[in-house]
Amino acid sequence: MNQNINILPECNDDINAIEIITIEAFKNHPHSNQTEHKILTALRDDNALSVSLVAEIKDEVVGHIAFSKVKINNEFIDWYGLAPVSVKPKYQNQGIGSQLILSGLEAICELDAKGCVLLGEPEYYNRFGFKALGELVLKGVPPEYFQSLLLSGEMPSGNIEYHKAFS
Ligand SMILES: CC(C)(COP(=O)(O)OP(=O)(O)OC[C@H]1O[C@@H](n2cnc3c(N)ncnc32)[C@H](O)[C@@H]1OP(=O)(O)O)[C@@H](O)C(=O)NCCC(=O)NCCS
Repeated sequence: MNQNINILPECNDDINAIEIITIEAFKNHPHSNQTEHKILTALRDDNALSVSLVAEIKDEVVGHIAFSKVKINNEFIDWYGLAPVSVKPKYQNQGIGSQLILSGLEAICELDAKGCVLLGEPEYYNRFGFKALGELVLKGVPPEYFQSLLLSGEMPSGNIEYHKAFS
């Protein structure tokens, strides 16, 4: 676990570094079409980046996480999508991704989030409480990879729609 990490909200000076880290992190990802950095720009341009945090070590940006609102059955009901999350390759496996995810979940809780969804490896995200429950469905993806975390209230069910930046 890297002890010298600061997790901070993104500022304008971080945008370039965030883009580079996102490109580098997803470069060899088997399920990526390498558009994650474009998604971030589109979300930012549409004021739809609800939470955007950077991980810094000695003022260098080494990781990033974003959250944006999702619709459930065509309605915004305070649920968020976690995507993308990226850690600079040489800093991976030092706990930085975990710190970003935990801080990001705290940040959406401060926005009164009721829950969060993501598409990713169950083996990794289970440790933060995410589960492929089946109540929430993202069309066109294998259900075992589409995971959710209830933060407050009752578990909704239905179809999830991410911001149009993801389509
Ligand atoms: C996924 C990512 C953000 C994790 O960040 P990180 O700082 O490396 O993760 P942490 O150090 O907090 O956790 C490391 C642990 O996660 C596991 N892990 C990392 N990526 C994983 C994956 N894709 N599938 C399963 N386990 C994974 C590691 O094996 C390690 O396990 P251990 O704790 O049992 O040893 C980072 O690896 C990354 O940027 N990957 C490329 C982009 C990406 O895949 N983003 C997520 C898309 S859903």
